[in-house]
Amino acid sequence: MEKILVTGAVGQIGSELVEALRDKYCNENVVAAGHRTKPTKEMKEAGPFEFVDVLDKDAIKLVIKKYNIDTVYHMGAVLSATGEEKPQLAFRVNIIGLYNVLEVGRECELERIMVPSSIAAFGPDTPTENTPNETIMRPTTMYGVSKVTGELLGNYYFKRFGLDVRGIRYPGIISNKTLPGGGTTDYAVEIFYEAIKNKHYVCFLKEDSTLPMMYMPDAIKGLISLSEADINQLKHHCDYNLAAVSFSPGELVSEIQRIIPDFKCEYKPDFRQEIADSWPKSIDDTAAREEWGWEPLYDLRAMTLDMIEKLRIKLGHG
Ligand code: SER
Repeated sequence: MEKILVTGAVGQIGSELVEALRDKYCNENVVAAGHRTKPTKEMKEAGPFEFVDVLDKDAIKLVIKKYNIDTVYHMGAVLSATGEEKPQLAFRVNIIGLYNVLEVGRECELERIMVPSSIAAFGPDTPTENTPNETIMRPTTMYGVSKVTGELLGNYYFKRFGLDVRGIRYPGIISNKTLPGGGTTDYAVEIFYEAIKNKHYVCFLKEDSTLPMMYMPDAIKGLISLSEADINQLKHHCDYNLAAVSFSPGELVSEIQRIIPDFKCEYKPDFRQEIADSWPKSIDDTAAREEWGWEPLYDLRAMTLDMIEKLRIKLGHG
């Protein structure tokens, strides 16, 4: 049975990933690690939890030894918008933090490290429609720079040290359990909360700003499937494009209005618009489909229905 460590376990993806991995591999085999934010009661009671600063290599190593870890899902990161406000922090956490995890992985001969990349690894020179897996990678955000670096480092550790590092380029992730923090795609989560609570939302991106997105169940399924894929089938390692849906704020608003007809949205683009403008609008994920059988389950309509249903219960707006 695998022994897994999840860094960034209190974050948007990490918190649901921990749940999914605990369901699959048993609670005691999945160690959740956060930095400063306290875990929920459920997370702490269900299985092991540790506070780990990814900038402290010894601390990472200690936890890996303590629990006999063989697989790490390294989800701890600073997202794009926070990364532009605090580029030095994003550099340290996303690049030095990953370097520490890779080095510990090499020293402890871990079986596998999963490291998510992002559509942010692309930049304004990249073709924006149906962006190929292999294309121009010249991001203009610190987050994007850190993600390209992460992909290259992971591929290097695989080739040079035989460490099995794998990763996918996530689009914006939409979920109803833990809020995202500091991302450019966060509007697509906030909008649901505001539509249900206040029937009004002020969007920080333009109405027609199309971006690739994905519902959390697909994001979790994708990462775990890649982790379980036969290594002999993989021609890539840390750089799989992954697509599900692409939509603009305007299209999402129309979809929400099918269920909440009096919902209104205003558009007041801020500094995050420039970040969104530098990213692709849609993604070609043929490599992931062919090499490890990727297939998303949720389209825009199915995701919107499920989000509103779950959030109405969560927010007591049944
Ligand atoms: N959701 C991320 C962000 O907006 C993109 O990977 O920063």
